[in-house]
Amino acid sequence: MNTQSKIKLLFVGDIIGKPGRYVASRVIPQLIKERELDFVIANGENAAGGFGLTKNIVGKLHSYGIDCITTGNHVWDRKEFIKEIEECSGVLRPANYPPGAPGRGYCIIEKNGKKLGVVNLQGRVFMDPIDCPFRVGRDIVEKLREEVENIVIDFHAEATAEKIAFFHFMDGKVAAIFGTHTHVPTADEAILPGGTGVITDVGMTGPFDSVIGMKKEIAIERIIKQLPRKFEPAKKDLRFQGVYVEIAEGKTEYIERIEIRVKKE
Ligand SMILES: [Fe+2]
Ligand SMILES: [Fe+2]
Repeated sequence: MNTQSKIKLLFVGDIIGKPGRYVASRVIPQLIKERELDFVIANGENAAGGFGLTKNIVGKLHSYGIDCITTGNHVWDRKEFIKEIEECSGVLRPANYPPGAPGRGYCIIEKNGKKLGVVNLQGRVFMDPIDCPFRVGRDIVEKLREEVENIVIDFHAEATAEKIAFFHFMDGKVAAIFGTHTHVPTADEAILPGGTGVITDVGMTGPFDSVIGMKKEIAIERIIKQLPRKFEPAKKDLRFQGVYVEIAEGKTEYIERIEIRVKKE
């Protein structure tokens, strides 16, 4: 295997509404150029006004250079997306959703002669009770490995221990696993003994003067008064958070957390 087969990949933390899209539109094209990226994957479950996705927003995300969009528990927040997802190429919902759920949970993306398998899974601890992500993930990866050498997973989950157990369960079976969903990055990026690059949470791309992307005042009032106020994305302290990996022969060779602060013009 020569160095041509090395894949330079950027994984982007949950993009939050319009502020997140602004940051993504500024930072991703720049990183594609600077780092000569082969592929960009982003979690887009909060890209439409902070909740869900639409076909229109999927088009915008692709225009920034994102090849594949993963999601999670917010995937159906915009009801129209239940139908639209079938018309959106390069969009995944968690693969361990019940049989009959629209859309798909894994795919192979191809560009410039390079191929990458992408799987989206959702955890079950402090989340909706869906199929076992460990068993579903293992079966999908076994099947995908017949077609593609390099596979990465977005494991969308709340509990750190569930994510870390999953990393060890899959070590050596996939090139990298990126934790998403908490919107708070963890400083534990590592390459496990089997060669799988991991991070418990990639973080988020959006406004950080917020409660995980949403206006602070509303989040606090919901807790203090227990009133059903609607969340709204915040606006200030825009940042990009993501992880850059170099992968080859089914393993991660290099992993790096990236954070870039963006000034709104
Ligand atoms: Fe999210
Ligand atoms: Fe989520």
